[in-house]
Amino acid sequence: MTPFNLPSFVGNELDYITKAIALGQLSGDGQFTKLCSQSIVAQTGAQDALLTHSCTAALEMAAILSDIQPGDEVIMPSFTFVSTANAVALRGGVPVFVDIDPVSLNLCPEQTQLAITSKTRAIFAVHYASVIAEMDVLAEISTDHGLLLVEDAAQAFGASFKGRKAGSFGDLAAFSFHETKNIVSGEGGALVINRPDLVERAEIIREKGTNRSRFMRGSVDKYTWVDIGSSFLPGELIAAFLYGQLEKARQITDRRRVICDRYAAGLASLAERGRVRLPAPMPDRTGNGHMFYLLMRDRADRDTFITAMREREMTTPFHYVPLHSAPAGLKFGRAVGPMTVTDAISASLVRLPLYYTMTDAQQDNVIAEILQILA
Ligand SMILES: Cc1ncc(COP(=O)(O)O)c(C=O)c1O
Repeated sequence: MTPFNLPSFVGNELDYITKAIALGQLSGDGQFTKLCSQSIVAQTGAQDALLTHSCTAALEMAAILSDIQPGDEVIMPSFTFVSTANAVALRGGVPVFVDIDPVSLNLCPEQTQLAITSKTRAIFAVHYASVIAEMDVLAEISTDHGLLLVEDAAQAFGASFKGRKAGSFGDLAAFSFHETKNIVSGEGGALVINRPDLVERAEIIREKGTNRSRFMRGSVDKYTWVDIGSSFLPGELIAAFLYGQLEKARQITDRRRVICDRYAAGLASLAERGRVRLPAPMPDRTGNGHMFYLLMRDRADRDTFITAMREREMTTPFHYVPLHSAPAGLKFGRAVGPMTVTDAISASLVRLPLYYTMTDAQQDNVIAEILQILA
């Protein structure tokens, strides 16, 4: 069976786990957590980074930091993972779903503008497939309306837009280090913060609503409950593994980009014949090789393709089921404007196998089968 994803072990992950055990601190915020934070800041150009146990957790922290009150609205694409919307719904807020751009597959700025009401508090932009959303336009909209801008950069570690890295655009940004991403720690994530005035509260929220971080730095003599919060930090063994990966981020990203380029070249003839659509090159954006997808003619065509690939023992999943029409989306959220692109993309997109250790021969085999199925 050709897997869709395989987590890779490329650096000193095991050595660092051994070191973390020898250091004797297994709970969070030890030496490896600090090293990871420094590495994330250095690699993203963000101001501050707090390790979390998932991107979901980082998004929940972002929603608390956005001060969303019951009934407040947050604009986001419908074409995203459930965590983007859950974070808002958990605060009693209303996820307001808008359509995506047909080329970037990211939040459409025009629809975002139209969805703003007096209740809008924030925009949660998603960098789908590591293509960074229109952050300059979205930043202008956010500033004009006094909204917080949050990047759901789950898939985008190392991606850039006009020379700036994912995580450096929003007031806040959330990364994922889940094993399906490029840089992994099994489960894992980070909240990066570009507003110095939000750092202290973020630390408190992450430490169960206490000022324990200040206590650990010696700036208060006891720690106490000062705000709402939860346990959002990972333990040191996770951080040790992650640090081994972060050190190799460049190597992992470069290889995955090569795999994406090989897919684009190997499948170009299908696109030229109009049989499929491939991810559109966007000259001002550099992805991180996270994902390669095909856009098929319609749902039936896509499902037939997935079945044919499965018969050849190749896993080619699809996502996302649009949130605006999902049961919880209907219950907690609201859609604004047409959802034509979201519905069409959701029905026709299929993802191809892609992992760091995928050999050229394995990939050529996948390409050959696809060319045969779609001949
Ligand atoms: C856009 C997006 N946001 C959030 C998440 C959640 O990430 P995690 O599994 O680290 O919580 C994902 C996971 O795939 C994602 O794709």
